[in-house]
Amino acid sequence: MKNLVSASILSADMLKLGEEVRKLEKNNVDMLHFDVMDGIFVNNITYGIPILNSINKITDITLDVHLMISEPLKYVNAFADNGADIITFHIESKSDPLETINAIKQKGVKAAIALKPNTPVAVVEKFVPYLDMILIMTVEPGFGGQKFIESTVSKIRDLRKFITDNELSADIQVDGGIDAVTSQKVKSAGANVLVSGSYLFKSENMSDAVKHIRE
Ligand code: DX5
Ligand code: ZN
Repeated sequence: MKNLVSASILSADMLKLGEEVRKLEKNNVDMLHFDVMDGIFVNNITYGIPILNSINKITDITLDVHLMISEPLKYVNAFADNGADIITFHIESKSDPLETINAIKQKGVKAAIALKPNTPVAVVEKFVPYLDMILIMTVEPGFGGQKFIESTVSKIRDLRKFITDNELSADIQVDGGIDAVTSQKVKSAGANVLVSGSYLFKSENMSDAVKHIRE
């Protein structure tokens, strides 16, 4: 299974977002990870639809939208119409999971469910057949630059086993505290889509940093 790197622009310089997107393209990241926070589902507020629309106009890179908002179903069409290629919503949100998956798929967008570090994998198992990807959060959602939570590794292993045993094909994404060291742990547990923000943007050589995560 091919490993993919999704760069979180939460750590980018917002005043130079266009240049930052070019830099990610040049350094061969596979996707751009777009964190949307509403100040209710998590204790932070980021950016939303107009910024996604602007990014979509200047790049063909896959736009991986992570909705940390309490009512994702309400906003599926808006994010899909403004460039999202993948929409991830939280199982802990208020929206009905199947209704939300269907709404995403009706727009021709890939659907994913995210789990906070303390949410057990069993909660999402029944939805896995309908999903393109499951996001196992490796930090509490809300902020970039946090420390990787080691106890999430066994969740990745359990989910990969469930996917294999049931002959399914969903990707497993990880998000939070991913660097050259933690990426090796999550990949050996079965994750194949790696989100990274602060490690990539703080690295002196982004192309090497991308390789360290992917390989
Ligand atoms: C956290 C976000 C992450 C964050 C990751 O709530 O979902 O995508 O940007 O940042 P790092 O890689 O710095 O942990
Ligand atoms: Zn994220």
